[in-house]
Amino acid sequence: MRILVVGGMGNVGGRLAATLAKRGNHVTVLDVRSSPVEPYVVLDDCEVLVGDITEKAELDETFRLGQFDSVFHLAAVLSADAEKDFDRAWKVNMVGMRNVLLAATSYKVNKVVFSSTTASFGPGVEEPVRVDSPQWPVSLYGVTKVAGERLGVRMHYRWGMDFRGLRLPSVVSPFGAGGGVTAFCSQLYEHAVGRGHYQFYVEPGVGRPVVYVDDAVSALIQLHDANESSLTRRVYQLGGISATSEEMALSVLKELPNVQFTYEPDSTKNSLVKSLPMYVDDHDASDDWGWVPKYDLQGMTKRMIAELRSISE
Ligand SMILES: NC(=O)c1ccc[n+]([C@@H]2O[C@H](COP(=O)([O-])OP(=O)(O)OC[C@H]3O[C@@H](n4cnc5c(N)ncnc54)[C@H](O)[C@@H]3O)[C@@H](O)[C@H]2O)c1
Repeated sequence: MRILVVGGMGNVGGRLAATLAKRGNHVTVLDVRSSPVEPYVVLDDCEVLVGDITEKAELDETFRLGQFDSVFHLAAVLSADAEKDFDRAWKVNMVGMRNVLLAATSYKVNKVVFSSTTASFGPGVEEPVRVDSPQWPVSLYGVTKVAGERLGVRMHYRWGMDFRGLRLPSVVSPFGAGGGVTAFCSQLYEHAVGRGHYQFYVEPGVGRPVVYVDDAVSALIQLHDANESSLTRRVYQLGGISATSEEMALSVLKELPNVQFTYEPDSTKNSLVKSLPMYVDDHDASDDWGWVPKYDLQGMTKRMIAELRSISE
């Protein structure tokens, strides 16, 4: 199978591309970056193209030549970066998304999997948040992701595209996306292992549902592989591990008792994180395509510490 991973140099995309290549697929990575965010991710078995999804003609040519069966669309400007640069976020997340979907339609790609976010919900939504709960995000990032989901679903109804969206909670990984407002969920591990201390920019009781990066990759692949007949909807979500910053810190202290955690809340970031839901219902994903996460909080903490230690050796 010929698969294109758009944004395949990113935290999630790199591991996804490497896993798909290991399964024997012909994988092409398209990204503005020429090397992976996670430097130890090996993409030797992938074809690597440096390109920008906002450049429509170039993107069309990539699709024409690639003759892809499936596309994973992960390229995006994440939440904190989007707040800093409205124009770029709009261009990449809106124009880029449109370009990818139009190219997929023109060049007869069978399936498009899109990474959305549980940050597409806003404050006041009833929890646990259902997959069809109202989406009124506060962040520009959330707004663009809602639009991306809707455009994909529209392409399904209008052109028969097999569009599948997955709302991820905050992804925890050793090089966790620094451009997201929930970057603390990964940074706390990096600093705990590397420096022995971490200062949270959110309050102790503030948190988010999180998912370990390998679970996020497995979920994207499972959704991709699911029989279309078993899908009852076009967009799914993962519940993840609901933990406050304090609970995450305590899980680290169980493994590394000498680490110091302090709190110096940044009012903008703290209130953006607080506007996001903590509990997300993912029973549709379990029922329709058998989603079961492998990592709980302590399992993820152990794995992160082990990975970070092996990187620094
Ligand atoms: N990391 C999280 O916590 C999280 C949570 C929910 C959803 N998601 C979604 O998952 C996806 C992957 O997230 P990630 O953590 O790997 O982020 P990331 O920032 O590590 O990866 C995004 C990749 O997109 C690439 N990119 C950006 N603009 C581009 C452009 N114009 N053309 C081509 N490539 C471009 C970047 O270079 C980067 O490699 C994103 O769509 C994100 O919105 C992430």
